[in-house]
Amino acid sequence: MTDTNANNATFTVGDTNVEFERVSATQGSDGFSIAPLLAKTGTVTLDPGFVNTASCTSDITYISGSEGILRYRGYPIEELAENCSFLEVAYLLIYGELPNPTSLAAFGRRINEHTLLHEDFKRFFTAFPSQGHPMAILQSGIAGMATYYEHTLDPKDEEQLDMASILLLAKVPTMIAYIAKRAIGLPLLYPDSSRYYTEDFIRMTFGLPYQGEEIDPLVVRALDTLLILHADHEQNCSTSTVRLVGSAQANLYSSVASGVGALSGPLHGGANEAVMRMLREIRDAGLTVDEFVSQVKDKKNSVRLMGFGHRVYKNFDPRARIVKSLADEILPRLGSENELFDIAKSLEEAALSDEYFVARRLYPNVDFYTGLIYEAMGFPAKMFTPLFALGRLPGWIAQYRELINDPTQRIGRPRQVYTGETERHWIPREERQTADLLHLSDSLNVAKL
Ligand code: ACO
Repeated sequence: MTDTNANNATFTVGDTNVEFERVSATQGSDGFSIAPLLAKTGTVTLDPGFVNTASCTSDITYISGSEGILRYRGYPIEELAENCSFLEVAYLLIYGELPNPTSLAAFGRRINEHTLLHEDFKRFFTAFPSQGHPMAILQSGIAGMATYYEHTLDPKDEEQLDMASILLLAKVPTMIAYIAKRAIGLPLLYPDSSRYYTEDFIRMTFGLPYQGEEIDPLVVRALDTLLILHADHEQNCSTSTVRLVGSAQANLYSSVASGVGALSGPLHGGANEAVMRMLREIRDAGLTVDEFVSQVKDKKNSVRLMGFGHRVYKNFDPRARIVKSLADEILPRLGSENELFDIAKSLEEAALSDEYFVARRLYPNVDFYTGLIYEAMGFPAKMFTPLFALGRLPGWIAQYRELINDPTQRIGRPRQVYTGETERHWIPREERQTADLLHLSDSLNVAKL
């Protein structure tokens, strides 16, 4: 491909030249619009994992992986984490501007009006095994909202879309708290609409009837900050999933439920849980930090330093710095197992001065210290990814709304480069010589019911 002028590029296939229009970014990489390629040359671009493909233009979040920058709507994550509440940041992501006091109050009031779940919906949680993974239950619950709020399903109707956004923000914390409570057989508490969002989520998750309901403001602030840090991260796997489903004009609930499914994958939302496992294994095996780092560097092992490295951040993950100072502040206050925090800090120190990690530009990511904080707050490991989903909710909603209002967006439908059989013809069953391709034995213990 050659630059023909400052703006466009020409791609040549055989004798055919195709001009690609340059789409300018306000910051970061410009893009080339390659849509005419197929019609003009009969070829497509191939980019597994979308490592070099922008699926959209977006005004919401800017990341510079080389400089360690994360901004929502232009505001640095450090300023937002320091000065804003999670609901303020949610409003910023969804509507594009920080709210004034009146609009923030109205936003919070609207959300608090809808935190209750329909009593039938509450019973829905009991249909799942109590130890079923919370992400699977959450995904089903969010998809199921479409059956209760049928007047909010049209994404092209602004008021319906606003209401669907409010309903999701309002009901997801209640759902997550109910999932957590049911897993340990404790009673579900009704939401208290007089409380702040995160405070009431903590109360519903940990509170018991007839007990004092004082919630430590430090814990509320810390969780609010963690939710802010997770609130958006441009076109990551789950957000791209929300957009792809939304591009078929599926309703907001279905699209966000699909995002929850993507986030449940261990390569995406599950790393904070893996960090805690790793720290415990180091402690229980009595390994020194140097011994563990040697295992990680030994390519004969498949051991990774969990919570280190990132596809985009090749400098540092700005969220990780904020989480670490939060951990420094809150862990001693919560009297948690400082032993694991000490191991984590020593690991970080050892890795940051080790040639293996330096050469590969591996730095702590947001997940390195978050599990320690969640655990100190009392959340079991299975709830870490639902907490990530709660934080990411405003980002998914904002990205869905941007997609729906973008006149250039069409239904998402990638192409492929077909590498299968060319045409072949049916043969009778008895004459087929094919091997048995089913990978099932009786060793998997799956109930018949
Ligand atoms: N520990 C040890 N080595 C690592 C690590 C790690 N955590 N991460 C990357 N490397 C090494 C790889 O072995 C590879 O080395 P090589 O060049 O000698 O083969 C090199 O660094 C590049 O690694 P890739 O896997 O190609 O990097 P990629 O960008 O594809 O992966 C990822 C990024 C998945 C985050 C990876 O760094 C990783 O597995 N980290 C641990 C898991 C983790 O913390 N995930 C959370 C990410 S943040 C989030 O989702 C919110």
